[in-house]
Amino acid sequence: MNPNKALWQKGDFTRIAESMRESGEALVDKLGITRGMKVLDLGCGDGTTALPEAKRGAEVLGVDIASNLVEAGKRRAKEEGLNNCRFQEGDATDLNQLENRTFDLVVSIFGAMFAPKPFDVAKEMVRVTRAGGRVVMGNWIPNDPTLVAQILKISSSYSPPPPEGFISPMTWGVEGHVIERFTGAGVPKEKITFERDTFTFNFPKPPQELLAAFRKYYGPTMNAFEAAEKSGRAEDLQRELEDLFTAQNKSTNPAITSIPATFLRITVHR
Ligand SMILES: C[S@@+](CC[C@H](N)C(=O)[O-])C[C@H]1O[C@@H](n2cnc3c(N)ncnc32)[C@H](O)[C@@H]1O
Repeated sequence: MNPNKALWQKGDFTRIAESMRESGEALVDKLGITRGMKVLDLGCGDGTTALPEAKRGAEVLGVDIASNLVEAGKRRAKEEGLNNCRFQEGDATDLNQLENRTFDLVVSIFGAMFAPKPFDVAKEMVRVTRAGGRVVMGNWIPNDPTLVAQILKISSSYSPPPPEGFISPMTWGVEGHVIERFTGAGVPKEKITFERDTFTFNFPKPPQELLAAFRKYYGPTMNAFEAAEKSGRAEDLQRELEDLFTAQNKSTNPAITSIPATFLRITVHR
């Protein structure tokens, strides 16, 4: 199986996504969604941003490489009675099932950044956006001191080196790379803007329990623990991540977790 697909189908990202719903709603509020707008949510997971987009009146298509998450998105949209929110399987590197210039807005929040071949991904997102439309990406930032960048950094230090030619998803959090990729897709540099934004993970249990969910259900952390177990370093990894989750937690109530994480919000105007 395509290793990118295998990674995201490995666990159950819905268990992490449950802690991301409030920030998903808040982010969608900033996107200027209007009734009838055609939105593609790429790397949509189980619909953390796709459902709020549909609730604001957009005609939403969620596309994700992981079939379990596509099914979870369909279930959630049905439960909420949203018949303007469809989901289908697809790969951000090749959206061949989608026509040119179809969408007013293409959104990818911590989604397309995880696909390989970033130049193809930029080209595909631009191709399916209509003239006058926008692409909005949310990407984690390499070496940022907040939660997800640090989880990925710590996890990679316990994992075997990636195969030759592998391009780190974190490069999508570097403005120079983003500009290179979108200008390579034909977008003038002045049409690309950047803002720092925050996504807060809210979890109804202590931080150690949120870490346990990452260990059990989040593909990249699951892989890191598998590698660490083989090298006899799983306890070190657990300790390092426990320190991280505890230090990042801003909740004053010890029974719950609230961890803000910084990301790069990119807007590309067609
Ligand atoms: C960190 S999750 C984020 C999900 C969702 N956007 C959210 O904010 O909850 C990353 C998502 O990107 C999807 N993904 C990874 N590689 C992809 C690819 N090549 N094409 C489409 N989706 C992909 C994964 O399956 C997963 O659902």
